[in-house]
Amino acid sequence: MSDNIVEHNYNISREDRIKNNNHKSLLLWFTGLSGSGKSTIANLVEHALFNKGVKTYSLDGDNIRKGINNDLTFSAEDRTENIRRIAEVANLMLDAGLVVLAAFVSPYKKDRENIRTIVKDVNFVEIYINTSLEECERRDVKGLYKKARRGEIKNMTGISAPYEAPENPELEINTEKENIEDSVKRIVDFIKPKLNLKNE
Ligand code: ADX
Repeated sequence: MSDNIVEHNYNISREDRIKNNNHKSLLLWFTGLSGSGKSTIANLVEHALFNKGVKTYSLDGDNIRKGINNDLTFSAEDRTENIRRIAEVANLMLDAGLVVLAAFVSPYKKDRENIRTIVKDVNFVEIYINTSLEECERRDVKGLYKKARRGEIKNMTGISAPYEAPENPELEINTEKENIEDSVKRIVDFIKPKLNLKNE
């Protein structure tokens, strides 16, 4: 019977999907302190892209850590593992032809460099959301800095754990100097040529 079964190649390649989507896949990686504005800016960029017909998906620290990474703490080792898994998940999404927006503190330079290795340089755009600790602490949207100052949270980035700022990010946004509409526009303008969007 098996003699009569002809193997069929069902594989759809990344290139096939890109052709179908009319744009390339891309990983936009937002790094910065907690409360710096990563998710807010990523969400607005995603909306702008979605409105142009780009197929997008967002990955975010607060939701990933409730699901696939709910076994991980904020120790240096667990943060490394957090970022590694997210990069692997993002890589699958790149294969599926999506533009992935990832917003994670990702405080260690070596972990961010590892993302480049996992997804291959060409698909990776590092965006540093540069908001000072003073400003993040003033905003303290989630009340975490207050808790960290009281010693109720260990390993809080910026207070009791390091943040290694990117030296050569593809883009740097200073949220204290630039308004959010301009920041979003700057990001979208930067990535547009990388997407090879048809109909633009
Ligand atoms: S990362 O360092 O491993 O990249 P990730 O982005 O997943 O961090 O998660 C950060 C989010 O978890 C923050 O936005 C904040 O809401 C919350 N959080 C809780 N504890 C900490 C902590 N000790 N340091 C930083 N963020 C924390």
